[in-house]
Amino acid sequence: MIIGVPKEIKDHETRVGLVPSGVTGLREAGHQVLIESRAGLGSSITDQEYQEAGAQLAPLAREVWARADLVVKVKEPQPAEYGFLRPGLILFTYLHLAPLPELTDRLLESGVSAVAYETIREEDGSLPLLTPMSEVAGRLAVQIGAVYLEAHNGGRGVLLGGVPGVAPGNVVILGGGVVGTNAAKVAFGMGAHVTIIDLSLNRLRQLDDIFNGQVVTLASNVWTVRETLKTADLVIGGVLIPGASAPRIVRRDMISHMKRGAVVVDVAIDQGGCLETSRPTTHTDPIYFVDGVLHYCVSNMPAAVPHTSTFALTNATFPYLLELADHGLEKACTEDPALRQGLNTYRGELTHPGVADSQGRPWKPAEALL
Ligand SMILES: NC(=O)c1ccc[n+]([C@@H]2O[C@H](COP(=O)([O-])OP(=O)(O)OC[C@H]3O[C@@H](n4cnc5c(N)ncnc54)[C@H](O)[C@@H]3O)[C@@H](O)[C@H]2O)c1
Repeated sequence: MIIGVPKEIKDHETRVGLVPSGVTGLREAGHQVLIESRAGLGSSITDQEYQEAGAQLAPLAREVWARADLVVKVKEPQPAEYGFLRPGLILFTYLHLAPLPELTDRLLESGVSAVAYETIREEDGSLPLLTPMSEVAGRLAVQIGAVYLEAHNGGRGVLLGGVPGVAPGNVVILGGGVVGTNAAKVAFGMGAHVTIIDLSLNRLRQLDDIFNGQVVTLASNVWTVRETLKTADLVIGGVLIPGASAPRIVRRDMISHMKRGAVVVDVAIDQGGCLETSRPTTHTDPIYFVDGVLHYCVSNMPAAVPHTSTFALTNATFPYLLELADHGLEKACTEDPALRQGLNTYRGELTHPGVADSQGRPWKPAEALL
């Protein structure tokens, strides 16, 4: 197969769909790789590195899209890319189609077979291509929170680790899943006092084991959230109910009882956020204040660290990409149920029930079409 990698063109998107080690892996499996010039620069990967790994460079996106059998990307096609969609093309990328009826139309009209990273689901229910971005966002949340706690950035001037003779900062993490656990690791490593609040007692038991009892774990309820927030310096929101909007477990009145200059990083903002006061912000204009509490609610946090995010993402996507390239879409999706769940459109038919439900469209199971 010819695998094409265009440069991402979505606003502030500097990740790339394939790294040099992936180029070598595909070449060794007998495939060709065509990369748009400068596609990796945002993630600190030069054209020369791609060439040394065995890729061919193409100066224009048009050429990559036209020659490739399979295009691997990071974000969903943008309007400027719609004209490149064509029958028989395999597209492998994040799509998040549910709220995008126009893109869904384009994919169906063009006959592209699109496999979405976010709907690939393993038998144990895990979403392997979402996890790495939650790992990045969880760790980044503490780093960002620590910076905004600095007085000149609007925070209350607290050093998370404290110093001998002065207490460390209080970090309260809402949701002890992938984001929460990764946030806790960094906060604990910095010497902060860490509290994790989760609804699942089993999850709290696991966290107690992981951290050897050195973080406080609390069962989630309104009273506990309210009382814990009163002493928090940094709050990280990482609550998720899969497939649903995030539950808004921090109510408006709880914010007014928090310390002035405390910082909230609501990572769950991509699902609506877990505070009633959260609204999405951007990397260009990331923060705002409510009752003196600084809110950071950027919905694509991993884009702030594209180098790490690109490698974390491609580590997870590459095995599936190789399956698609080696076996072709039909055989790969027939043999691997996880990959099959990733198939959102197939030769003009919608194949994902979740997208169909949210847009009120008909769909056909992939099994019936492949
Ligand atoms: N902003 C960004 O850039 C960015 C990046 C990556 C992930 N995210 C988002 O972060 C959120 C968390 O992702 P994750 O991978 O950690 O999810 P996860 O499923 O691993 O963890 C969610 C946790 O929330 C807990 N929970 C559910 N209801 C709760 C409640 N009422 N009170 C307390 N805890 C509750 C669950 O028990 C679970 O442990 C998701 O919305 C994800 O999309 C955002």
